[in-house]
Amino acid sequence: MKFTKSHVATLVGLLLFLCPLVAHGWGVDGHLTVCRIAQARLSDAAANAVKDLLPASADDDLGSLCSWADEVKFHYRWSSALHFIDTPDNLCTYQYTRDCKDENGIKDRCVAGAINNYTTQLLSYGNDAPSQYNLTEALLFLAHFMGDIHQPLHVGFTSDKGGNTIDVHWYTRKSVLHHVWDDNIIETAEQRYDNSDVNELIDALQKNITDEWADKVKTWEACSSGKLPCPNVYASESIKAACNWAYKGVSENSVLEDNYFLTRLPVVNLRLAQGGVRLAATLNSIFG
Ligand SMILES: *[C@@H]1O[C@H](CO)[C@@H](O)[C@H](O)[C@H]1NC(C)=O
Ligand SMILES: *[C@@H]1O[C@H](CO)[C@@H](O)[C@H](O)[C@H]1NC(C)=O
Ligand SMILES: *[C@@H]1O[C@H](CO)[C@@H](O)[C@H](O)[C@H]1NC(C)=O
Ligand SMILES: [Zn+2]
Repeated sequence: MKFTKSHVATLVGLLLFLCPLVAHGWGVDGHLTVCRIAQARLSDAAANAVKDLLPASADDDLGSLCSWADEVKFHYRWSSALHFIDTPDNLCTYQYTRDCKDENGIKDRCVAGAINNYTTQLLSYGNDAPSQYNLTEALLFLAHFMGDIHQPLHVGFTSDKGGNTIDVHWYTRKSVLHHVWDDNIIETAEQRYDNSDVNELIDALQKNITDEWADKVKTWEACSSGKLPCPNVYASESIKAACNWAYKGVSENSVLEDNYFLTRLPVVNLRLAQGGVRLAATLNSIFG
């Protein structure tokens, strides 16, 4: 087959369509990790509800659809504002009433509002009257957004779009700061420590959840309000980590290598673990 102009146009269009898909939220491995950690911690009641809500194609693996929300971002255009929160530049704080809105100022349209929204929808699971919402989608959104809100730069500064406009080098490759936190740190860790196998990363995190972090897990799971989840707490932690670790010492065209990688990896590991533990606690509370 000869390539015609229209083939090229189709190909370019396809690439333009696909490229933004890889650039948001923890990358696929980050989300997969959060969902796998969570699913292994579910009570019987929650595990059954998840199994019931997942489509058969998922084969009872929540992780396999943990990036679904990123894939539908363009088809469900309204959902793209629900993956992050923009906070005022350099303030390093988050407040729901001030910050949880979309670009047009419509309130509740941010990742914290979305977590509350899909939690509320899932609470109708098992009611006699069928929900007006698609609870499969509610589960997939909640599982994904619980990951996103733990990625520090998903609660970043407004003018740099959570580090998306900050060009950096990750070792010798071009990247942007947001992508370093979505993917690059995790990929480099997998290459160095996990034989490039995400399952080894998941195992290592699960081990630390039961040993290293065992006495902290209860506090991660709890909300001071007594009601799960508490996305405002998770978002406040993220903007603090964004300021103290992600943005710190980075400027346009910074070259980030071992110094940055080795000091930031523990933060990424912690956030992945907390995301998984809290997703499980939330689902256990919803379906309990
Ligand atoms: C809540 O969920 C519904 C159904 O997916 C969606 O239409 C709406 O935009 C969501 N709102 C927020 C703030 O998440
Ligand atoms: C619920 O959403 C899923 C995923 O988008 C879709 O495959 C399924 O058909 C929807 N179910 C209903 C009853 O609309
Ligand atoms: C697990 O904890 C050990 C000891 O603190 C640490 O060296 C290792 O990097 C941690 N691994 C992960 C994946 O969190
Ligand atoms: Zn996302």
